[in-house]
Amino acid sequence: MSPPASETQKQKIRIKDETRTGYTYEEYKQTADWLLSKTEHRPTVAIVCGSGLGGLGELLKDQVVFHYSDIPNFPRSTVPGHAGRLIFGNLNGKPCVCMQGRFHFYEGYPLWKVTFPIRVFRLIGVETVIVTNAAGGLNQDYKVGDMMVIKDHINMPGFAGHNPLAGPNEESFGPRFPPMSDAYDKDFRKLTLAIGRELGFSEKMREGVYCSLGGPNFETIAECRFLNSLGADAVGMSTVPEVIVARHCGLKVLGISLITNKAVMDYSSETTANHEEVLQAGKDSARYMEKLVTVLMKRIEMNNNVC
Ligand code: HPA
Repeated sequence: MSPPASETQKQKIRIKDETRTGYTYEEYKQTADWLLSKTEHRPTVAIVCGSGLGGLGELLKDQVVFHYSDIPNFPRSTVPGHAGRLIFGNLNGKPCVCMQGRFHFYEGYPLWKVTFPIRVFRLIGVETVIVTNAAGGLNQDYKVGDMMVIKDHINMPGFAGHNPLAGPNEESFGPRFPPMSDAYDKDFRKLTLAIGRELGFSEKMREGVYCSLGGPNFETIAECRFLNSLGADAVGMSTVPEVIVARHCGLKVLGISLITNKAVMDYSSETTANHEEVLQAGKDSARYMEKLVTVLMKRIEMNNNVC
């Protein structure tokens, strides 16, 4: 019996995707133009919400909301804790666009799909991307609820050739060999740490190195020890692909990890990491992250300098 037409169609799309190495410039442009035609908001800041941190999107005023499934070319979010909505609006008076839910390699998406929204943001006029995530604390000093301003990253899948920029370079976005030694804007990092102190969050504020893995399984004890010995302070399954693509196309980047669990580093430990714990820690601490980002918005100038 032949499969129903819709299944055949889905399979054709799958085969087409497998043979592609990226979107065309026209597809990014089509999505950007579609969004600009549907809203009068003209955001200069984009916020990517990590697991359990989607509440940030709810804080936007004058919201115009799009479900990912309604936006041309947009992938779908499949993970609990990731709503799958793009929200335009004003946060503390600044026009911004917020991704309530992101895409991950472990969902089966190639990295050029995971990072699709970033280039669309570039085309609609965004200058700064604030990426947030939930992460496991490798640094033994870190506690659940700490907020780590990302100073640098280790792109572990990149070591095995998984890079969102692999394939023909799209020159209209950026160079073939972009630097990454300045990926996380120094002034934004300083400002974020200062705001954290002003808000009375000094005890929670950290600055450190984020390591991304492909997931979806949480790490073994040996892997956690290995990553920590490499200099990683926190580990997660996201963020780095988006940051690489954002830097490639000239966007400024600020990254903040919410430490939702302590990585298991000890063979005598009885605890194991799980997604429910990550979401719960997100819920418990989201208000701190929301306050931090909200105040930050006020201090990012229209031309995205800090003040
Ligand atoms: N490992 C990987 N990803 C994560 C973790 C973790 O411990 N916590 C939240 N996201």
